[in-house]
Amino acid sequence: MTTLALLGGQPEAIATGPHFSWPPIDDVTRARVAAQLDTAVSIPGRSGIVAELEDALKGYFGVRHAITTCSGTAALHATYAAVRIKAGDEVIVPAWTFHATASPLFHLRAVPVLCETGPDGNIDPARVEELITPRTRALMVTHLWGRPAGMAQLAAIADAHDLVLLEDGSHAHGAGIDGKKVGTFGLASAFSLNGPKPLSGGEGGFVLSNDDDTYYRVLMFAHYNKRCRSEIPDSHPLARYAVTGSGLKLRIHPLAAALAFDQLHRLDGYLAGRAEIARYLTEHLAQVPGLDVTPVPEGVIHSWYGLTLTYRPDELGGLPIERFHQALLAEGASEFDRSGSTRPLHELPLYRHPDRLFPGHPQHHRQYPPGSFPVAEHTYRHTIKLPVWHREQDLALADQYVRVAAKVSDHHKELLA
Ligand SMILES: Cc1ncc(COP(=O)(O)O)c(C=O)c1O
Repeated sequence: MTTLALLGGQPEAIATGPHFSWPPIDDVTRARVAAQLDTAVSIPGRSGIVAELEDALKGYFGVRHAITTCSGTAALHATYAAVRIKAGDEVIVPAWTFHATASPLFHLRAVPVLCETGPDGNIDPARVEELITPRTRALMVTHLWGRPAGMAQLAAIADAHDLVLLEDGSHAHGAGIDGKKVGTFGLASAFSLNGPKPLSGGEGGFVLSNDDDTYYRVLMFAHYNKRCRSEIPDSHPLARYAVTGSGLKLRIHPLAAALAFDQLHRLDGYLAGRAEIARYLTEHLAQVPGLDVTPVPEGVIHSWYGLTLTYRPDELGGLPIERFHQALLAEGASEFDRSGSTRPLHELPLYRHPDRLFPGHPQHHRQYPPGSFPVAEHTYRHTIKLPVWHREQDLALADQYVRVAAKVSDHHKELLA
């Protein structure tokens, strides 16, 4: 008779050491990044590894422009500024996302308007139109955990209401719908290259756009002086600001660019490997009472930044998720995670009282008491997520996680006692 580790039994056999680390770094990666040390460690113009990475991103996404930045947050900030979001404008954003999807709006004195999400965590297209006012300028979409949002419907809404459609692809490099990649649906998109992201440079970010003016404005916002002077044509109305730009310098570090460049060539391989393991995990975890998995629709490529499970206490005698999660961790399955920072935004002080950090911020007409977004709040509180491994040899580890989930589910009554 087995006993749960939380109740004093033997943990289910889980391999020692960290179970997931990202990005994968091998000797080729090491050599490429080390070689960059001898080439250039500061690149003020569009040359060297920065130009190589931007060209490779343009090729990968099939877009006219890619501009690297020091972070995804900076890419989002530059994107909003470049599409001319200004003081008092409203931008519809998902109620549940990582805050940086929307936080740069406060710096522009614009107002993030939170929109309910669906059970898959993505913005619910059916809830967007009710939020549109004469001040609404843009719609920002996150592809949460790498699952593409409903872009056909969202693009139609943006079109019908003359809104700028923007994407935060930070979880979803290489994800797509019917052959079209996430990040290419709107006027511009922003991506993070931060540590665990599907495409990682350790730190960094980038903006994509097919629009020349947006490109120049991102440069003006994030890359003052050399890049602005050499890339913005004299005929552009902002060309004379080239030396100072907007006053911000948000360049990527060349070592981060070298790492991201190396990783970009491996991205599709990672995604294919993840898809295999996600299929295995999904199929087996779906059979575990107490856990639901959301199927991926036909034609959708998921980046599997995270595989989310929806906890169903009703199937386990009302066992609280905290106790279920504790029991998973006690078995040694340390990658079962409950997200902390990627949470409903209205629970964060910045979104409740932005005026304390941004005096005079025009948010006062939007208040979001607890319960404002029942689906986002419920889904967030009932989500347990896993990273998705990509190598064939990781299947054994994935299998251990399945066995842990099944063991805790089977023994749930003992946790209730
Ligand atoms: C959805 C989303 N947007 C934006 C960001 C910000 O990216 P960065 O950490 O590179 O600034 C993150 C980072 O975790 C994110 O998850």
